[in-house]
Amino acid sequence: MKADWAYIPGGHTADDLRERAGELLPAGVFAHVIGGAGDERTLAANRAGFGRYRLLSRVLVDVAEVDTSVDILGTRLDAPIFTCPTGGVGAVHPESESGIARGAAAAGVGFMLSGLSSVTLEEVAAAAGPARWQQIFWQPSREVMCDLVERGEKADYKAVVLSVDDGDVARRRIVRTGYRVPVEDTVANLKRYGSTEWQARLRDRLHDPGDDVSLSWKNVEWFKSIVRVPLLLKGIMSPLDARRAVDAGVDGIILSNHGGRHLDGLPGTIEVLEEVLNAVGGKIPVLMDGGVRRATDIAVALSLGAAAVGLGSPVVCALACGGAEVVSAYLEDLVTDLRRALGVLGVPNVAGLTRGHVSRIDQYVPDTVLGPFLPAR
Ligand SMILES: Cc1cc2nc3c(=O)[nH]c(=O)nc-3n(C[C@H](O)[C@H](O)[C@H](O)COP(=O)(O)O)c2cc1C
Repeated sequence: MKADWAYIPGGHTADDLRERAGELLPAGVFAHVIGGAGDERTLAANRAGFGRYRLLSRVLVDVAEVDTSVDILGTRLDAPIFTCPTGGVGAVHPESESGIARGAAAAGVGFMLSGLSSVTLEEVAAAAGPARWQQIFWQPSREVMCDLVERGEKADYKAVVLSVDDGDVARRRIVRTGYRVPVEDTVANLKRYGSTEWQARLRDRLHDPGDDVSLSWKNVEWFKSIVRVPLLLKGIMSPLDARRAVDAGVDGIILSNHGGRHLDGLPGTIEVLEEVLNAVGGKIPVLMDGGVRRATDIAVALSLGAAAVGLGSPVVCALACGGAEVVSAYLEDLVTDLRRALGVLGVPNVAGLTRGHVSRIDQYVPDTVLGPFLPAR
């Protein structure tokens, strides 16, 4: 193992962080951080999807000032980037979720706290910046759901993210190591509700995702009625569900396949982004995550129309490599590189990115790009 490793700003990549995390973490914990469902085809599709896009730059545009900041549902971010909710990271680094929160705040990006965190949402709030959102998994007790939302509001989380998919924790990669995510590392927010039936089911669900608790659109409509901050659904992959989410009155969706951890065989998220955007028709913001590793991935997603992008596994790897300090250094690199990318693409701000700044390698360059240069018909 290289003892003298240090993150070099502008020099290291998500792949380097993953490699270093692999050296530092016990095999089972590392498998939890980087693994995907089944044969990890969806995990691979998330990355491969970005490889099918090329950016189209413009020159001689005045981009002396480039501004990457955005406002998403009332939350101000220095760049349209957020750290995804990642549960069970207590075993990754002693700073755990608070380290990710501090790193995100230092870099000026958004932070989403997992509902299955190893530290309570109140404790993490003390370490986080103002751009913090609370993720919740459905609990089969309305009292518990109400209390979680109330606690989040009190701790000044600016939005609630209801995850409507689930991680397949029985991934082969983990099973082979014999590791089980310690339940203790995931119930900091839930312990206080006592050892009731639902808690036992949560425990089962952690180790046997087949025994899931049922959640339907009816529950979403009820949930919307009790949440006073913006509500987003995370885990939407179908354009039809995206439209249904608009009808249910939610404020935004996060296109996500749980980083390839949900069902192997789902498409990569970037592959379905445009269809989902078309279905939503601009009525609510569409955020996305899955396979985002570098600033140019972010530029592709934003050009296609995503409002913001999230990163999960790379951020947890950064945490493993050196807590908040490395998390912030990696995220700051993303923000700096995104600013540079916007400059080269010839846009002074995020809103300037359009479908015309990106093309698929297996399609003709779209007319939206060539339009002004095509001879009049
Ligand atoms: C270690 C780990 C734990 C996760 N735990 C949660 C969770 O508690 N809640 C949730 O909604 N998503 C969870 N996810 C999924 C992420 O929020 C996100 O959708 C995914 O990681 C994005 O893909 P990426 O890892 O390729 O960036 C987890 C992901 C990882 C890597």
